[in-house]
Formats: sequence, structure tokens, C-alpha cells
Amino acid sequence: MRNWLFVSLLVLLIVGAMFYLTVAEEEKEPAYAGDNGKACKMCHKDQVAAWETWGMATAYDDLSDDAKKKTECIGCHVTGFGEDGEFIDAKKSANLLNVQCEACHGPAAAHLKNPMKEKPAAAAKDACANCHNEKYFGFKADEWKIEEALESIKHWKDD
Ligand code: HEC
Ligand code: HEC
Ligand code: HEC
Ligand code: HEC
Repeated sequence: MRNWLFVSLLVLLIVGAMFYLTVAEEEKEPAYAGDNGKACKMCHKDQVAAWETWGMATAYDDLSDDAKKKTECIGCHVTGFGEDGEFIDAKKSANLLNVQCEACHGPAAAHLKNPMKEKPAAAAKDACANCHNEKYFGFKADEWKIEEALESIKHWKDD
């Protein structure tokens, strides 16, 4: 009899925990805003306009249909891929395709909600090496000059 009670309680506890976890998971808000900077435009018009002219803004679109299906290809051609990212696949994460603002600046949904209080956290200059590195088969270390690359995408004021 006691065993029976114990097992019932245990089952109840497990079901309860599972329910709680599912609800908590669903309530988690996305950290990335995505959507090709549409929401950023209102306050960062010049930055969005600059970005639209870069190859990175079409980095995923530029891939062949074959490469678009390969996980080993899309990682550096989309936003929020990898450990702390939210990219799942091209269909479920259609708002994170291409190399968008948050690929360099980090998740910005919180900033979008409260621009004065929350700032995108990443040191954007350090982000280049996540993708411009020897894991990309076309990378030639002696040809990648970070200072020139930075200059060519300049959308900030000197301090
Ligand atoms: C409602 C206005 C508003 C919107 C929308 C907005 N921002 Fe901002 N953003 C600001 C303000 C204000 C600052 C602070 C400017 C300053 O400190 O000079 C800022 C600063 C930044 C900075 C610089 C952070 C730093 O540390 O200096 C980045 C990067 C940035 N925003 C990215 C984004 C991105 C990406 C989006 C879209 C997902 C976005 N912002 C949407 C108002 C906005
Ligand atoms: C480690 C990150 C990384 C991976 C993985 C990667 N790429 Fe790229 N890819 C880049 C970078 C960075 C560039 C830009 C290089 C440059 O111009 O200096 C690029 C450029 C390209 C370009 C040229 C785009 C253009 O219009 O000039 C093509 C095509 C491409 N990659 C296809 C692929 C394919 C196919 C794969 C999978 C086999 C792949 N990439 C995997 C980072 C990556
Ligand atoms: C390829 C990487 C990259 C992408 C993509 C990118 N940025 Fe930046 N951004 C930088 C770097 C690097 C800086 C210089 C400051 C730093 O290192 O944090 C910067 C600076 C800024 C600043 C500070 C402006 C100032 O005058 O100080 C804002 C605001 C900003 N970016 C907004 C955006 C928005 C909005 C987008 C998307 C439309 C975007 N960035 C896309 C790398 C990037
Ligand atoms: C998420 C991966 C990723 C990050 C982070 C990233 N890049 Fe790129 N970058 C790419 C890919 C992919 C391409 C090739 C895009 C294409 O042409 O299709 C590229 C292309 C470029 C190019 C070629 C010219 C052009 O018009 O786009 C420059 C310059 C460049 N990146 C600079 C930078 C700098 C500077 C940083 C850091 C501040 C940076 N990138 C961060 C993936 C990345």
C-alpha cells in the first residue's frame, strides 16, 4: 500500500515537472529580433541602408540550392547559428537568414524593447573571426585584412 502511494506521488511529481518545463519553454521569448533589420530601421536608418549594400546581406540567398541544404555551409551564411544561437533551420528560422545586424552585434530583441536601457552585448569587431576564418574553405589568411574589411563596412562614427 505504501509503495503504491509512493509511486503515485512520484508520477505526479514527474508529470508536474514536465508540464512546468514545457510551459516555461514556450514562454521563453526569442533573444534575436531578426527580420533583416526592419525593426532597427526606425532608429538606425543609415546603418540599415549601409548594410543593405553589403554582400553579407544576401549571404544565404547567394548560396546554391545544394549548399542551402547543407548544415556545414549555412552556419556562416545566417544569423544566430551555433551554441547560443537560435537558428534551427532555414524554414523554422526564415527571419534569421543572411548575415544580419545581430550576427555581429549579438541578440538585440531586448534592446529593441528598451533601447536606452539594454544594449546589444557583443563586441562587434570580435565577431568577424567567427566566420572569416580557416574553417571556410575559401579563406586565405594572408589576403584577409581585417582593418580594410572593417573600413569597407564602416557604419559608425569615430570616437
Ligand atoms: C526605438 C529606437 C531604436 C530601435 C528600434 C533600435 N535601436 Fe539600437 N540604439 C538606439 C539608441 C537610442 C542607441 C544608443 C545610441 C547611443 O548610445 O549613442 C542604440 C544603440 C545601438 C547600438 C550601439 C550599442 C553600443 O554599445 O553603443 C547597436 C549595435 C544597436 N543599437 C543595434 C540595434 C539593432 C540591431 C536594432 C534592431 C534589432 C536596433 N538597434 C533597434 C535606439 C534604437
Ligand atoms: C566558417 C564560415 C564559413 C563556412 C562554414 C562556409 N562559408 Fe561560405 N563564406 C564565408 C565567408 C567569410 C565568405 C566571404 C569570403 C570573402 O569574401 O572574403 C564566404 C563566401 C562564400 C561564397 C561567395 C559569395 C559571393 O557572392 O562572393 C560562396 C558561394 C560560399 N561562401 C559558399 C559556401 C559553401 C558552398 C559552403 C559549404 C561547403 C560554405 N560557403 C561554408 C564563410 C563560410
Ligand atoms: C559584419 C558585422 C556587422 C554587421 C552585420 C552590422 N554591424 Fe553595426 N557595427 C559593426 C562594428 C564592427 C561596429 C563598430 C563598433 C564596434 O566594434 O562595436 C558597429 C557599429 C554599429 C553602431 C554604433 C554606431 C556609432 O556611430 O557608434 C550601430 C548603431 C550599429 N553598428 C548598428 C547596426 C545595425 C542596425 C546593423 C544591421 C542593419 C548592423 N549594425 C550590422 C559591425 C557590424
Ligand atoms: C555570421 C558570419 C559572418 C560574420 C560574423 C562576419 N561575416 Fe563578413 N562575410 C560573411 C559571408 C558569408 C560573406 C560572403 C557574403 C556573400 O557575398 O555572399 C562575407 C563577406 C564579407 C565581406 C565581403 C564584401 C561584402 O560586400 O560583403 C566583407 C568586407 C566582410 N564580410 C567583412 C566582415 C567584417 C569586418 C566582419 C566583422 C565586423 C564580418 N564580416 C563578420 C560572413 C560573416
